[in-house]
Amino acid sequence: MSDLIHTPHSASYSSVFQFSIRNPRFNNTSASRRPIAIITPITVSQVQSAVLCSRRHGLQVRVRSGGHDFEGMSYISSAPSQPFLLIDLINLRNVTVDVPTKSAWVQAGAVLGELYHSIASASGTLAFPAGICPSVGVGGHISGGGYGMLLRKYGMAADNVLDARLVDAEGRILDRAGMGEDVFWAIRGGGGNTYGVVVSWKVKLVPVPRRVTGFKVSKTSEGSLTKVIQRYQHVVDKLPDDLMIMLTLSRIDSAAAQGQTIIQAEFLGLYLGETESLLTVMKQSFPELELTEEGCTEMSWIESALYCAGYPKNTSYDELLNSRNSSSLQFAKLKAKSDYVQRPLPVRALQGIWRSFDQVEAGPPLVQMVPHGGRMSRISNSSIPYPHRSGNIYKIQYFASWFGEDKKVEKRHLHWINGLYRFMTPYVSNNPRGAYPNSRDLDLGVNDPVGRTSYKQARVWGEQYFKHNFERLARVKAAIDPSNFFRNEQSVPPFVRMTTGRV
Ligand SMILES: Cc1cc2nc3c(=O)[nH]c(=O)nc-3n(C[C@H](O)[C@H](O)[C@H](O)COP(=O)(O)OP(=O)(O)OC[C@H]3O[C@@H](n4cnc5c(N)ncnc54)[C@H](O)[C@@H]3O)c2cc1C
Ligand SMILES: *[C@@H]1O[C@H](CO)[C@@H](O)[C@H](O)[C@H]1NC(C)=O
Ligand SMILES: *[C@@H]1O[C@H](CO)[C@@H](O)[C@H](O)[C@H]1NC(C)=O
Ligand SMILES: *[C@@H]1O[C@H](CO)[C@@H](O)[C@H](O)[C@H]1NC(C)=O
Ligand SMILES: *[C@@H]1O[C@H](CO)[C@@H](O)[C@H](O)[C@H]1NC(C)=O
Ligand SMILES: *[C@@H]1O[C@H](CO)[C@@H](O)[C@H](O)[C@H]1NC(C)=O
Ligand SMILES: *[C@@H]1O[C@H](CO)[C@@H](O)[C@H](O)[C@H]1NC(C)=O
Repeated sequence: MSDLIHTPHSASYSSVFQFSIRNPRFNNTSASRRPIAIITPITVSQVQSAVLCSRRHGLQVRVRSGGHDFEGMSYISSAPSQPFLLIDLINLRNVTVDVPTKSAWVQAGAVLGELYHSIASASGTLAFPAGICPSVGVGGHISGGGYGMLLRKYGMAADNVLDARLVDAEGRILDRAGMGEDVFWAIRGGGGNTYGVVVSWKVKLVPVPRRVTGFKVSKTSEGSLTKVIQRYQHVVDKLPDDLMIMLTLSRIDSAAAQGQTIIQAEFLGLYLGETESLLTVMKQSFPELELTEEGCTEMSWIESALYCAGYPKNTSYDELLNSRNSSSLQFAKLKAKSDYVQRPLPVRALQGIWRSFDQVEAGPPLVQMVPHGGRMSRISNSSIPYPHRSGNIYKIQYFASWFGEDKKVEKRHLHWINGLYRFMTPYVSNNPRGAYPNSRDLDLGVNDPVGRTSYKQARVWGEQYFKHNFERLARVKAAIDPSNFFRNEQSVPPFVRMTTGRV
């Protein structure tokens, strides 16, 4: 057991701490905000012991799976007065696929690349609808929803969970029957580090054809970009469920740009079918994109996972097993925000985005559109905690990214993303302004560090993420963890009735 516990005095502490940091903004956080110890359990009973032992010693816990939290909340705390133990699930990453029942048990510390690899090794016609970046951990990802290229066909990752094993604040291991339907509802998207430690998920695998078709089409502002994007916004949520087209807007920084800002729009498409029928759909619904047969690539679903994640052509899918430590993991420092678009953005909003790209140095800034519609519109807004269903054309993700230690550079990038978020206010969902739980953004509001935030205070940001599901989440929280043992800066607090003096 001793080599599973890493204290700041052990030689292993720094490397274990840094290994799963996926936002280097938090790589050099002061010691008082880091864990007082890290445990890397190899069995579920060690997770139970870690929870019970922390409680006994008055420590908090934070649990980390893939470490992609945009605000670093899985491994640092903003409250130096609240010492915590980090339970790092890196050693709990078995995946067991069962083809006949089209399901898999995946331990929470596995990353998406490892899950996808196991599925593809077992079957050429099964898949799981989750994120694009293979290094994302299933523990945090499913706890906050999880979208990827199969979103319009099968919904979120959290929509496709059949069972789970949760270690609660009492140290019990609960499966779906043991935790009950309310808790099982809450853990599927209601936020991580709130109801307990999920040690494994049983996920539903979904059918995909042997051959799918991918495409990448780039347009620049020199061409008729505005017209193409206008059409995109009008059709993208109404296309057949089999077709997903993500759009990433960025800026070209090159000598060729000669000091002028050139906006680049990259359309990334995945169609669950063959080229011929894709071209028919595109000709009818979205001819402005000018997709050609040569622009399409037929491949298996697992090859499409590599293709969409940007791996070089012909990369073996075994490369997914290196998702955690491949050299491609040179992440920039990141700040993310999100919005939901319910009416197509007018031209002046698009032009405002273009102009904003002028206001910050190389990074580059990114704005990404994630289409909804299809199956997403047919799932009820209270089926799981994720509420942003019918009525949303797409989700926008804004990303600022930069390198280096210069605080002035950081400040300029934060200024850029805050300015763009303010500018977008009239064009996006409001009352409440929607936000995606997995794009954690502490600017929306934070809990008080000692865990006494009232339900009423937390509602401000809670309803941005969960709309009317927030109240049910707070009631579930009150039932499973009334002492608010599992918490962080943005975890759902327990619902407390008015009569106790706190709402
Ligand atoms: C480069 C990058 C690419 C991304 N791509 C996508 C994408 O394509 N689609 C998408 O939907 N999202 C994407 N995200 C967002 C991602 O889904 C979220 O950040 C997600 O929460 C990460 O899960 P994790 O396990 O890697 O993170 P972690 O930082 O380990 O955890 C995130 C949160 O969940 C909690 N948590 C972690 N494990 C558990 C557990 N086992 N039980 C209970 N709570 C737990 C943590 O304490 C923390 O609060 C991306 C993020 C990054 C940085
Ligand atoms: C964090 O810093 C260490 C050394 O300071 C470095 O080796 C490591 O690559 C850094 N990690 C990230 C994610 O930047
Ligand atoms: C870490 O932070 C300290 C204090 O902010 C700074 O002096 C030091 O240069 C940083 N180190 C690295 C490797 O970034
Ligand atoms: C993971 O799977 C291996 C092989 O099936 C098994 O020996 C091991 O006990 C499993 N580990 C956990 C933590 O479940
Ligand atoms: C990819 O692999 C196929 C089949 O093995 C081969 O025909 C093709 O030339 C390869 N492409 C590249 C870019 O290596
Ligand atoms: C990192 O990659 C190496 C091989 O490239 C592999 O042996 C090792 O197990 C990987 N580590 C993790 C944690 O995935
Ligand atoms: C779901 O939509 C209905 C109808 O618009 C609305 O009344 C309800 O509050 C919504 N539920 C959530 C969780 O937002």
